[in-house]
Amino acid sequence: MQNILVTGGAGFIGANFVRWLLRERPTVKIVTLDALTYAGRRENLPEQNRNIFVHGNICDRALVEKILREHAIDTLVHFAAESHVDRSILGPEAFMQTNIVGTFQLLEAARALKIKRFHHVSTDEVFGSLGPNDPAFTETTPYDPRSPYSASKAASDHLVRAYVHTFGLPATISNCSNNYGPFQFPEKLIPLMILNALAGKPLPVYGDGQQVRDWLYVEDHCEALVAVLEKGRVGETYNIGGGVQPKNLEVVRQFCGILDELCPQSPHKPHANLIRFVTDRPGHDRRYAMNIDKIERELGWRPRFSLEQGLRLTVRWYLDNAAWVKSIQQTGDFKQWMNRNYDKREEVKQ
Ligand code: NAD
Ligand code: TYD
Repeated sequence: MQNILVTGGAGFIGANFVRWLLRERPTVKIVTLDALTYAGRRENLPEQNRNIFVHGNICDRALVEKILREHAIDTLVHFAAESHVDRSILGPEAFMQTNIVGTFQLLEAARALKIKRFHHVSTDEVFGSLGPNDPAFTETTPYDPRSPYSASKAASDHLVRAYVHTFGLPATISNCSNNYGPFQFPEKLIPLMILNALAGKPLPVYGDGQQVRDWLYVEDHCEALVAVLEKGRVGETYNIGGGVQPKNLEVVRQFCGILDELCPQSPHKPHANLIRFVTDRPGHDRRYAMNIDKIERELGWRPRFSLEQGLRLTVRWYLDNAAWVKSIQQTGDFKQWMNRNYDKREEVKQ
């Protein structure tokens, strides 16, 4: 791993990954390719001569091939995607274009230029939804995606596997659970709720708030990805998860408590009083849980941050980065999204 192309590196996980590599792998050179959609921000990435930024679309195969050739790329790490389930419900088309067609174009370019490793970053949501007593997802759990987002990610996983089997492309896949941490776009549960709580706005919990997610601090995800790149076996899939599976309502209550402690002067204390139950997401998956035995056994990776530690670091980061937050909240797209997704949701009494 010497010259790496990172797609979607201006987004949440991609930016954390690029920053991690710049810090921990001092000899690697990185090229970031990102279309800077609403979710991508140039300022998420540090200015560094070991990180070249290219503004462009993964669907543009000629551009991708040019980058692979000119920068002698040996490793491609593919994060670029439309990533928000609620947006996939209100407007699925961009998901099909970027997540499926975009992945296909990257695979074709990687095959033509014979790159040494293609790593595809995917999600636990491809496995569907678990009942309360079902065992956690393993790498061999059958796919059962249930939202346009997860269906598009499942399609991209299938394409990657097809290229391994048919063309011998040296690829790996990781399916990871819900991430949280610095630079997460404030449309996702944890940053959205932190910012609403700080502003004294309602905290919109979908349905009964008893849905279960497997939460992982983003830095742990970055370390897991590097373990797969450096030690993983070509053609294999690795599950990545936090090993902690609280209900949504518990997570919201937990960071409300952290906010109460870190902002003792807040007029909105106790922040948990801002919780409101609102109309549920259509087709809302009830429970995700990841079995991470394989990556632990084969690559020696396990999460280092507890939920409490990760939430504290995350709340602190959003408190310390008010200018970043404000620059997003002031965009027309963000205001429009908030109106579109939340205005029609009614409060539901529990
Ligand atoms: P994000 O939405 O924060 O960032 C996505 C990035 O991709 C943005 O910078 C955006 O500008 C870029 N992008 C979108 N379409 C593009 C295109 N056509 N060409 C080039 N760039 C484009 O997403 P994220 O949360 O950082 O997720 C990154 C990856 O990790 C995704 O593939 C997602 O499916 C996967 N994943 C995310 C989570 C999570 O909890 N966030 C969990 C598991 C897996
Ligand atoms: P999200 O961060 O959108 O991730 P995903 O849907 O990919 O798991 O949501 C995490 C959980 O939080 C999910 O069960 C939906 C729920 N949720 C709310 O209750 N309210 C909200 O405003 C949002 C954005 C999510």
